Amino acid sequence: MNDNLHKLRCFGCGDLISGSDARPDFRCAKCGDLFEVEYVGWSQRGGHDRPNPGALKWLWRERRSSFDALDQSGVWRFRELLPILDSFGDAVTLREGNTPLYPLARVAIALGMDRLYAKHQGMNPTGSFKDTGMTAALSVAHERGFEWVACASTGNTSAAMAAYAARAGLRSLVLIPEGKIAWGKLSQAMDYGAVTCQLKTDFDGCVRVLTEIVREAPIYLLNSVNPYRLEGQKTPAFEIAEAFDWNVPDHLIVPGGNLANSSALGKGFHELHELGLVAHVPHISVIQAEGANPLVRSLATSQGATMEPVEAHTRATAIRIGNPASWRKAARVIKQTGGWCLDVTETEIAIAKAELGAEGLGCEPASAVTLAGLKKLRADGRVAAGETVVLLLTGHTLKDADYTIDFHRGTLLSEKELAGHEAEVNSLRRNAVAVDATPAAVLAALKGSVG
Ligand code: F0G
Repeated sequence: MNDNLHKLRCFGCGDLISGSDARPDFRCAKCGDLFEVEYVGWSQRGGHDRPNPGALKWLWRERRSSFDALDQSGVWRFRELLPILDSFGDAVTLREGNTPLYPLARVAIALGMDRLYAKHQGMNPTGSFKDTGMTAALSVAHERGFEWVACASTGNTSAAMAAYAARAGLRSLVLIPEGKIAWGKLSQAMDYGAVTCQLKTDFDGCVRVLTEIVREAPIYLLNSVNPYRLEGQKTPAFEIAEAFDWNVPDHLIVPGGNLANSSALGKGFHELHELGLVAHVPHISVIQAEGANPLVRSLATSQGATMEPVEAHTRATAIRIGNPASWRKAARVIKQTGGWCLDVTETEIAIAKAELGAEGLGCEPASAVTLAGLKKLRADGRVAAGETVVLLLTGHTLKDADYTIDFHRGTLLSEKELAGHEAEVNSLRRNAVAVDATPAAVLAALKGSVG
């Protein structure tokens, strides 16, 4: 870890500490809040360590045609903006990042929009956006000589952590809420060799237990309270800006769970702006599930000054979180960028997910909240027809195949949830049919589906 080039700044009291002085739970010793990485040489315009925007843009693009492992990573390709390691040769990479930005043609027409895109972070090596953060923080753990890493997770963090730990030859410990994560994700933690403990509690309970463990044992914490995670997770902002030739979109819409990713992306855009690579930052909006919406409530009742934890319920298990660690950071990014925070119902999530699937862009339910949220923002005019919008799809559709199958079989939504939405849901459902093994029977099934 390179302590000469960066410091950690407390988000709450502003205290500035060296990276190696961070406590195992990454909480400030003075006020208990979380840290952000700050780079020492960037503070003054014209400062000699300040990167040159034109040279960086050229270099980052050049690296796309390199065969070097670091250059092929969509995180380390931008390494000038995350100088957190002593030696970049220590980086543990699975060639994460460089994910596609897809136009959403049919959904855009339905919403009366011209420029709607999906940045698909589910196309990362372990199928979620967590890989971009994990390559950064696990590389720090590796460089610092830890043997064990750990996280509490709703599934994707644990899958990513287990994979990167395995690549680096480290052992990993996963705490997950029993019966409340999607099978695809659990299978990944097992496949990559993690010690996986299913606790009889929810995600928030797993976080409490793990926080106590890392205070006592020499285990490196890889939850998103670890500020190095966010350094990796800010890089999709660079990819998005680059894809639009450094003219950033008007809006970026992200799902909200533990609420770190929104602030990581905000940090990424903010740094590009500070360094003169882009002229402005997009409005960043955060969408939560209605049954797991503590930030929506916080902003409505106290403008984000306080947050009451809730008991979380949603089928979008990735974001079933009632006491998000990074809520202050998310509240700040929403306010600073002029974005919004909304919640969406289970029915709205299911419909949005099926609509994305019908465009050939499957995603897991937690990702589909972005489209469900955009529909609301379009309906009340907060997003205008001519504006450019990017939805951040955070996880791959195969992460939670049960959810998709239940939707198409018609067993996902309750009667109450379905009421008033029957026609819309039925038009999207594509159930598999049992058919005799003859051409005539298959052709008859085809005819039935077209009619
Ligand atoms: N989407 C997916 C697919 C996720 O897995 C998560 C979080 C989020 C969105 C929310 O991101 O927490 O930064 O607001 N998953 C974590 C996990 C909590 O353990 O995998 P956030």
